[in-house]
Amino acid sequence: MNIRPETFADHAAIRKINNAAFAVHLFSRQTAHLIVDALRAEGALTVSLVAEDVLAGDVRIVGHIAFSKEPVDGRDLGWYLLGPVAVLPDLQRKGIGSKLVLAGLAKLRKRNAAGCALVGDPALYARLGFRQAVGLSWPGVPAKFVLYQPLCGDEPNGAISHHPAFNIEA
Ligand SMILES: CC(C)(COP(=O)(O)OP(=O)(O)OC[C@H]1O[C@@H](n2cnc3c(N)ncnc32)[C@H](O)[C@@H]1OP(=O)(O)O)[C@@H](O)C(=O)NCCC(=O)NCCS
Repeated sequence: MNIRPETFADHAAIRKINNAAFAVHLFSRQTAHLIVDALRAEGALTVSLVAEDVLAGDVRIVGHIAFSKEPVDGRDLGWYLLGPVAVLPDLQRKGIGSKLVLAGLAKLRKRNAAGCALVGDPALYARLGFRQAVGLSWPGVPAKFVLYQPLCGDEPNGAISHHPAFNIEA
């Protein structure tokens, strides 16, 4: 398993992975692939990594993760949003998602990011160093699903939000 930054040649595979992974997701609007495309088109896809696997001599992309700027009370305080993250359904629960998250956080640290926050399931993210946010909130989202991890800064107080690309309609 190799984790590396996306290249132009990966765009179609990234779309397929997001489509397949979110197809049966309970709360997904099935727009993850469109969100990634829109972030990229707007120059807002700060970190985009793929996981590649070698199967019978062929290299294939099996997972993807995106990070974008995450304003706090509308201000850029150096915080990033993790997501979407997706792994091909038949390869889930094998550690690929965790590797993508950890590789992404390492990239953010190199950029001196203050921290990373997300809306997600604590069952998945707690073991990767995320904990329930105290000072950060996400309007309309129960606090237990608003998770954060400080990187080169402290947790600020305020409402976090995402890039408008996340509002894209299918
Ligand atoms: C979420 C996802 C990216 C995780 O990738 P993965 O390669 O399956 O994750 P890992 O194998 O590294 O999982 C590590 C642990 O996280 C937990 N976990 C994984 N997927 C989970 C899920 N969907 N819900 C709750 N916990 C989960 C499990 O505890 C797992 O460990 P275990 O298999 O020993 O029980 C992948 O399951 C996926 O693509 N899901 C559909 C899309 C999605 O929900 N994305 C996240 C929202 S943006």
